[in-house]
Amino acid sequence: MHISLIGGGNMASALIGGLLARGLAPTRIRVIEPLPQQRERLTERFGVTCFESAGPAALQAEVWLVAVKPQQMRPVALQLAPFLRGQLVISIAAGIRTEDLSRWLGGHRRLVRAMPNTPALVGEGVTGLAAMPGLTPEDRSTTQSVLDAVGQTVWVEKESHLDAVTAVSGSGPAYVFYFMESMMAAAQQLGLSSEQARTLTLATFQGAAKLASQSSDSPAKLREQVTSKGGTTAAALAVMTERDIGASIALALQAACERSKTLGEEFGRDPPA
Ligand SMILES: NC(=O)c1ccc[n+]([C@@H]2O[C@H](COP(=O)([O-])OP(=O)(O)OC[C@H]3O[C@@H](n4cnc5c(N)ncnc54)[C@H](OP(=O)(O)O)[C@@H]3O)[C@@H](O)[C@H]2O)c1
Repeated sequence: MHISLIGGGNMASALIGGLLARGLAPTRIRVIEPLPQQRERLTERFGVTCFESAGPAALQAEVWLVAVKPQQMRPVALQLAPFLRGQLVISIAAGIRTEDLSRWLGGHRRLVRAMPNTPALVGEGVTGLAAMPGLTPEDRSTTQSVLDAVGQTVWVEKESHLDAVTAVSGSGPAYVFYFMESMMAAAQQLGLSSEQARTLTLATFQGAAKLASQSSDSPAKLREQVTSKGGTTAAALAVMTERDIGASIALALQAACERSKTLGEEFGRDPPA
């Protein structure tokens, strides 16, 4: 497989690193990136071939992966359209719907929309994937092999569910960082040093996530197992229950999901003729 990445920013770098680590030769990867410093960085770091703009050589690949900002998507797709020869196109641009991208690409329908998250930068991401109707099992498996390079993948059958994916895993790392910040600040208020607070908090998150993913018990069950009646965990959880932190989390995710829908509508609009 040859792959052309359109946009050579953070996410593209993470994907290139992951694909090379999985054995794809650098000669099979092309990148279109307008910034000269960024092109130099990618060539030095990964040995991939970079191009300043779209053209037949840059786009000679069976798979295109478009990794530009959502605001750049429409002009970029219009530039790419003349070079399409039936390739599989994967877009990781947040919020851009396949129907809009398809229209900008002149009606092309061999499309997948992906929603990765920032832990992809360390190979521990999770990506939600939605295919345009009619995508073949081979194209699904090719898409998966590309995105699996930076973590796990989850297909959703309805593209609208990518708004929920965005609310859960796309924005999710920020909720976890918020929880970490709060725990670290509280740990210092209890007299620990900032270094101690950081080590204890990060290790707790890492350990709890590993335990939850390796255990056959649900997170609720694992919580119950460490909550003895009248104990310290029960005291903390009583405060969380009283403040209804669970309901706040549900509201926060609903807000993210709504925002994702609105952004999708805004980004997908064509300017007035
Ligand atoms: N980072 C995340 O956690 C995350 C998660 C999920 C989805 N995404 C989505 O992934 C996409 C990329 O994010 P990112 O963080 O990698 O952004 P980024 O670092 O800003 O990368 C985008 C790159 O595309 C380049 N570009 C702009 N116009 C181009 C063109 N005409 N042809 C080729 N390249 C062009 C940009 O160059 P200039 O700097 O010159 O504009 C920039 O280097 C976004 O849509 C984002 O929503 C990101």
